[in-house]
Amino acid sequence: MSKSAEFTKLHVALGERSYDIVIGAGLDSAGLLIAQHLKRKRTFIITDKNVAETQLETFVKRFENAGIEIAQKVVLSPGEETKNFTVVSALVETLLHQGLERSDVIIALGGGVVGDITGFAAAIALRGIAFIQIPTTLLAQVDSSVGGKTGIDTPYGKNTIGAFHQPQLVLIDTNVLDTLPLRELQAGYAEIVKYGAIKDAKFFAWLEANGKQLLSGLEGEKHEFRIEAVIRSCQIKADVVVADEREEGERALLNFGHTFGHALESETGFSNALIHGEGVSIGMAMAARFSAELGFAPKADAERLIAHLKACGLPVHPSDKGPKALDPVRILAHMKHDKKVKDGRITLILLRGIGSAFITREVEEDRLLAFLRNELK
Ligand SMILES: NC(=O)c1ccc[n+]([C@@H]2O[C@H](COP(=O)([O-])OP(=O)(O)OC[C@H]3O[C@@H](n4cnc5c(N)ncnc54)[C@H](O)[C@@H]3O)[C@@H](O)[C@H]2O)c1
Ligand SMILES: [Zn+2]
Repeated sequence: MSKSAEFTKLHVALGERSYDIVIGAGLDSAGLLIAQHLKRKRTFIITDKNVAETQLETFVKRFENAGIEIAQKVVLSPGEETKNFTVVSALVETLLHQGLERSDVIIALGGGVVGDITGFAAAIALRGIAFIQIPTTLLAQVDSSVGGKTGIDTPYGKNTIGAFHQPQLVLIDTNVLDTLPLRELQAGYAEIVKYGAIKDAKFFAWLEANGKQLLSGLEGEKHEFRIEAVIRSCQIKADVVVADEREEGERALLNFGHTFGHALESETGFSNALIHGEGVSIGMAMAARFSAELGFAPKADAERLIAHLKACGLPVHPSDKGPKALDPVRILAHMKHDKKVKDGRITLILLRGIGSAFITREVEEDRLLAFLRNELK
């Protein structure tokens, strides 16, 4: 980690796929930082309508100040529905039509949806070109922009087509969060809590003390806490990715709360009724309750995690948000369709306590179904 007056820099050490994550509040030097990665001073920006309305102009100015020509701004429709083949195909064709070259770099300016789709387009266009992530949601800043997972959804599930394609650079300006709706901010915060819960008890305690200020505190403290939380989260994510880039082991810990959460999201058709971070929040609470029930984690730790999520305005129970009258057998079926299923056994990430999680395929389906019945009654 290195610090300057304007930003903190983390390094993701992946050999020839290594890159930096630059984190600051108001990155006026964004253009200069990007220019260093461009062979010709020309780039393409992919964004969505909401980000185009709130953030695009600031970044275009920063790029132009650094002498970078924007060959094309592609503005996608916001929302998960955009993550499909039709959109990727149109996007790649637009770029090719504009004269995209093998040595060009494209820029994803947006949340996880823009980042995932742009990264995937970059992975396949001209057999792979470089891309830069400028994440504009809290979720994208602490999670999706780092690690190189890119992809789209199909009728067979979320992210069922994709590629590992690491970005060239990740530029995080926490000031962009000022225009993000509170609900989205809270959803991203759930992923921050996840890092504390699975890896870092000290960070979790810090979040208990400062999480609320980060979400809606006074101006000065809000920014200070956001920066700190983003740095710490990116550091944890980067460490995990460096240890297990292609999710053959430890990286699966990052799915804590996601197997339950995805099943709930599926029941809402991945709609606005339950957004990803909310699903993760409920999923983490369920995984914590299940861990305590199975005797892996102290009940007090499960309660502590749930209390913090609740205090930050996040849902912690399936009935708090999203679809009503859920069928436990259907939820179990969704969990069995998860990408993490191996030899027909469901992979669960459970807790030993705050700051310590583990991966298991040992939990019997009957036991899980009984737990789901109790959760959903
Ligand atoms: N690749 C990965 O490793 C990874 C990890 C986690 C999640 N994801 C993916 O990320 C996606 C979710 O990402 P998300 O939560 O960022 O959702 P999103 O990209 O849909 O953004 C949420 C909403 O906020 C708007 N928005 C974004 N930035 C804004 C800003 N600064 N001001 C105002 N509005 C803004 C967007 O237009 C959208 O309406 C999912 O598709 C998920 O699968 C990927
Ligand atoms: Zn997630």
